[in-house]
Amino acid sequence: MATGSGTWEYRDEHHDDFGRTYFRRYGDGLLSSIGLGTYLGEPTDSVDERYEAAINRALSMGCNVVDTAINYRCQRSERVVGNALAQTDVHRDAIFVSTKGGFVPFDGTRPDDPGRFVKETYVDTGVVDTDDLVAGSHCIAPGYIDHQLDTSLENLQSHVDCYYVHNPETQLRENDHEAVYDQLEETFVRLEQRAAAGDIGHYGVATWEAFRVPSDHPSYLSLPEIVERARAAANEAGTDATHFRAIQLPFNVAMADAFTVEAQPGADGQQSALWVAAEAGLNVFTSASIGQGDLVKYLPQDVESVLEGESRVQRAINFARSAPGVTTSLIGMSRPEHVEENVSAGRFDPLGAEAFDEIFVSAGVDDESGS
Ligand SMILES: NC(=O)c1ccc[n+]([C@@H]2O[C@H](COP(=O)([O-])OP(=O)(O)OC[C@H]3O[C@@H](n4cnc5c(N)ncnc54)[C@H](OP(=O)(O)O)[C@@H]3O)[C@@H](O)[C@H]2O)c1
Repeated sequence: MATGSGTWEYRDEHHDDFGRTYFRRYGDGLLSSIGLGTYLGEPTDSVDERYEAAINRALSMGCNVVDTAINYRCQRSERVVGNALAQTDVHRDAIFVSTKGGFVPFDGTRPDDPGRFVKETYVDTGVVDTDDLVAGSHCIAPGYIDHQLDTSLENLQSHVDCYYVHNPETQLRENDHEAVYDQLEETFVRLEQRAAAGDIGHYGVATWEAFRVPSDHPSYLSLPEIVERARAAANEAGTDATHFRAIQLPFNVAMADAFTVEAQPGADGQQSALWVAAEAGLNVFTSASIGQGDLVKYLPQDVESVLEGESRVQRAINFARSAPGVTTSLIGMSRPEHVEENVSAGRFDPLGAEAFDEIFVSAGVDDESGS
């Protein structure tokens, strides 16, 4: 598990290579503001090999955040992270590892008949109750998440620093909001217990739409309500304070809604997700930080011109990690050469708060969710 002293030592070893605010606070520790994600790529041995080399390179260069999920690449991404952690010379207490549970995962390959695989592997064995299964592929019931966390611990061969409930808004396709909040609270009780047992450091929610859409959108979830449910879960579990610590949400030049859409109830009325997360003392991790590769090809000229970096992708990364309240921008990278380029973006300073705000005033960067 990452520790305060382990991550500070890591920072001391690397911080001369980086610009201002490259390492950022996470509790009593420090995390790199550029992290490695493992979502994309085919579930094949050759992509596994690439990811393993990429993770090793990232850890040796000054990137100590690795994000995965049990369903990514049919559990191969978690297993690759586990192998890389077992092999690297970097101490485990310097590395922050996050994973997620919610989507029912395949095992190594995509089955020919996914419905049958889910039924035989999860429903018939009692791991998933069909009443809790949404869209045939998503479940966040406490017993299921417990089971998934056990599998992730095996895949990773290591404890988990932050465990996310993955895309809880998926449940809204078949359940009302109150039922989803209730289910989250029940599952948070279990995660509080797993944190008290030392299996995970903290937990949170990783979202795609929930926190960046208007409040009348079918996928909307209230962040303050979720934080309140986590506090209630801590009370119920008898833990001193909640271990709910982080959220993940998409953020990049073309998807800036977490900053621009003011739909979350804050102390002074409706605020953006980033604002409310900061008020609640949460760490924010951005996903899709380079638009799942799209921003390598295009950035609006007036935005690109104010960002520092030697290449477009570096400037796109520096936009994401300039947003207020962001701890780490996650970038999927399965090639050591992409790691070299992306982590080197941290040699440049991010924008200050005023310059970041100015982009939205003068360049008209807007949210793409619209309604
Ligand atoms: N809802 C959720 O919880 C959620 C959703 C999406 C993502 N995430 C997390 O956030 C992470 C980042 O998001 P993402 O992977 O979807 O999108 P992303 O980071 O915006 O983009 C990743 C893509 O960009 C490519 N790339 C990276 N560096 C490059 C470079 N220097 N030059 C050219 N191409 C480059 C990668 O290719 P290579 O693989 O070839 O390097 C990959 O195809 C994920 O990996 C995952 O851990 C979470």
